Amino acid sequence: MSIHNDIKRVTSHSLQVLKQNGEKISMLTAYDYSMARILDDAGIDVLLVGDSASNVMAGHETTLPITLDHMIYHAQSVVRAINRCLVVVDLPFGSYQGNSKEALSSAIRIMKETGAHAIKLEGGVEVLESVKRIISAGVPVMGHLGLTPQSIYKFGTYTVRAKEEEEAETLIKNAHILQEAGCFSIVLEKIPAALGKRVSEELDIPVIGIGAGPHVDGQVLVMHDMLGITKDFSPRFLRRYLNLYDDIKAATEQYIKDVKTLDFPNEKEQY
Ligand code: KIV
Repeated sequence: MSIHNDIKRVTSHSLQVLKQNGEKISMLTAYDYSMARILDDAGIDVLLVGDSASNVMAGHETTLPITLDHMIYHAQSVVRAINRCLVVVDLPFGSYQGNSKEALSSAIRIMKETGAHAIKLEGGVEVLESVKRIISAGVPVMGHLGLTPQSIYKFGTYTVRAKEEEEAETLIKNAHILQEAGCFSIVLEKIPAALGKRVSEELDIPVIGIGAGPHVDGQVLVMHDMLGITKDFSPRFLRRYLNLYDDIKAATEQYIKDVKTLDFPNEKEQY
């Protein structure tokens, strides 16, 4: 039986309860007030203020250019909109890789200035010290393994990660390290479904997948991709629920026509 409706306010503990009950966790990205309001009203469990804002909001090719100040602006807008879901905010590239002190002060800025509930950062053992320091300050941390877009220039491509045994073993080891360090959840991006299954079976904490198959404890998609606002990004793992690009374009074309032909505004649409 679903316990979704029993949860009045989603916390990191609720996600654990969902996993224990075998109920999948729903997560989407959000970056602004109006969309976050709709997604929360629909009953989404987690909203991620992802650094994918760098791509879908700002038009950059990668997630690298977005700054901590930008992330804080987006997170503040999302937090103002929500009543129920858990809000997780990405630490952007350059705000935590330097050292654990810098990582903690970035996490503190996010928590203090936005009212969000948790942060997410990319990497395994290489960010362990930062993860521990942030958690010991009382800030819940979500990990992120597999394809980690902030390292795109190291990988060189956005293809599926951890297909080979050695990389898969490293990923499993890192997942355990993050759990033992106290992460409340982990995102696995673009890895084989069998590996996603193994990690979520081995870990007690919820594992949320994006292109990690159906056996993980929850799914996340970038909202603009799932609603079909983006057009040119079509990885195999993406399901588009709407084609908003075409719908918005058609509505805008109609509006232009109505303005040009003096159809808008009509008698009822004026004072
Ligand atoms: O920034 C983002 O949108 C993400 C998701 C892909 C998980 O990290």
